[in-house]
Amino acid sequence: MSDCRKTADQVRALLQSCKGNGPQQTRTFYDSWSTYEQDFAMLNYRAPNFGVDFLDATFCGTRADVQVLDVACGSGLVTKLMSELGFRNFVGVDGSEGMLDLAAQSGLYQDLRLALLGTDPLPAQTGTFDVVILVGALSPGFIPVSVVRELCHAAKPGGLVCMVRGEHRGAEHDMYQCDLQRELQLMEEEGLWGQLAVQHTDRYMNDTFPDPDQQGELFLSGTAYLYKKKELHNKEVCLQVSRFLFRASPNHRERARN
Ligand SMILES: C[S@@+](CC[C@H](N)C(=O)[O-])C[C@H]1O[C@@H](n2cnc3c(N)ncnc32)[C@H](O)[C@@H]1O
Repeated sequence: MSDCRKTADQVRALLQSCKGNGPQQTRTFYDSWSTYEQDFAMLNYRAPNFGVDFLDATFCGTRADVQVLDVACGSGLVTKLMSELGFRNFVGVDGSEGMLDLAAQSGLYQDLRLALLGTDPLPAQTGTFDVVILVGALSPGFIPVSVVRELCHAAKPGGLVCMVRGEHRGAEHDMYQCDLQRELQLMEEEGLWGQLAVQHTDRYMNDTFPDPDQQGELFLSGTAYLYKKKELHNKEVCLQVSRFLFRASPNHRERARN
């Protein structure tokens, strides 16, 4: 990919060429995209601003103290916006080394981790992050729906999971949306988390597959979801502590040896 400035139509053509690719090809595609930020700006990409404002409206706590996991962090647009609001501790994950190199240039991440999600497990310990955020990658050929459960696992009990996705048109996207809705609902029924808010935007970014008969710029709509991971109840805390003490007790180790 050349480094010279592209027109909106050229960026659109580039994104259209990525359609229908699997995760490995998506990785290769993003690996060589050194002008990602300026190219996405050509398409009025507002998803990071939309997602961060949405999260921030509900967040209460000391921003500087919380641990944030930025999943599919790309070049770091989400983290840059969050740092302007006072968040300070970021770990980024992305499937593309090229994108992680761009993210590293921001100097905002404590750690950047390479993982092709859906193939590789999410590289985050269970119950570690106060906020898990994922913007712009819940789509067919990008991050599969099954990864949503891993986002929840990475959050601390009581932590927040914020997901933002564009509503692209087409049968494949419709099917993905149905699967996502089903998984979100199922996880709620399983008591893993509760929904705090859902917000819709008419202006997620310019449409990458506009109708040729349409005049002017057409925007894609998008949705942001905010979930709160279930807190541990006192009974569960006691159970976990007693399990830990039992395992640590010399008698138990003795019994395990025999
Ligand atoms: C449209 S960009 C969004 C980046 C950033 N969140 C933002 O809003 O600017 C999509 C990102 O998802 C990453 N990605 C796509 N599929 C992935 C996967 N299966 N695992 C990890 N990262 C993936 C790409 O490498 C790319 O950086």
